[in-house]
Amino acid sequence: MLVNAAEMLQKAQAGHYAVGQFNINNLEWTKAVLLTAQELNSPVILGVSMGAGKYMTGYKTVAAMVKAMDESLGITVPVALHLDHGEYDACYDCIKAGFTSIMFDGSHLPFEENFAKTTELVAVAHKLGLSIEAEVGSIGGEEDGVVGAGECADPDECKKIADLGVDFLAAGIGNIHGVYPDNWAGLSFDTLAAIKDKTGDMPLVLHGGTGIPDDQIAKAISLGVSKINVNTECQLVFAEATREYIEAGKDQQGKGFDPRKLLAPGFEAIKAKVKEKMELFGSVNKA
Ligand code: G3H
Ligand code: ZN
Repeated sequence: MLVNAAEMLQKAQAGHYAVGQFNINNLEWTKAVLLTAQELNSPVILGVSMGAGKYMTGYKTVAAMVKAMDESLGITVPVALHLDHGEYDACYDCIKAGFTSIMFDGSHLPFEENFAKTTELVAVAHKLGLSIEAEVGSIGGEEDGVVGAGECADPDECKKIADLGVDFLAAGIGNIHGVYPDNWAGLSFDTLAAIKDKTGDMPLVLHGGTGIPDDQIAKAISLGVSKINVNTECQLVFAEATREYIEAGKDQQGKGFDPRKLLAPGFEAIKAKVKEKMELFGSVNKA
């Protein structure tokens, strides 16, 4: 059931759990995430980066595929189709294409410009029934060409953006896209607590969910994180399962060519990873 993400994240915030955003890249990714959410009776957010949208030949294609698959699989749990780290123009493209939720990432802009564009997009999104995420501070590392400096968010700036009426807010708290380096200092819980203090009931978003230790995930949720984004970890298990299948000669000793068989181990690996994350985030049976 395609919905915007506002209500599912308000419930998560009130219920002290988090909903996973899993980024999709193709039919297999989408099907794996949708089926797992349905099996676990969990709400879910399908994230689409600008790069993945381009890869799938545009946001219209993505929206049409997700809507049709949601119906044909008989998905009854709440599913949001969400633009991830969207630039200003991409937000409008996704609104037109039929997404149910957008993220405007103005974190690399001067604060005044981020504020002005977020103000405009909140009004447009809400008028049309979409939910909207904004970002303050920046997530370190790189995702699909989007590079972040990784500075922690200023809690006062978080409050100013939260007060615009965004539905959920991403704030840099030392999190990084991709695999965390060995010398990573961990999440800044002091920053998170200060942001929570300023923003009240606003559901907070933790990007860079790949590889964050379970105890830090639990603490982040207890301090107000209601949405956790996971992308790289699904890519890693997909690649590992596919490689293992081929290298072990399970594809008819290197002669297999049926794409449905070659993609099946990676599909199952994504399902297992999404299940693990939904259990960790506490969203099972919260649909
Ligand atoms: O926006 C998407 C995420 O923040 C994913 O981060 O690739 O480190 O899991 P990740
Ligand atoms: Zn992100």
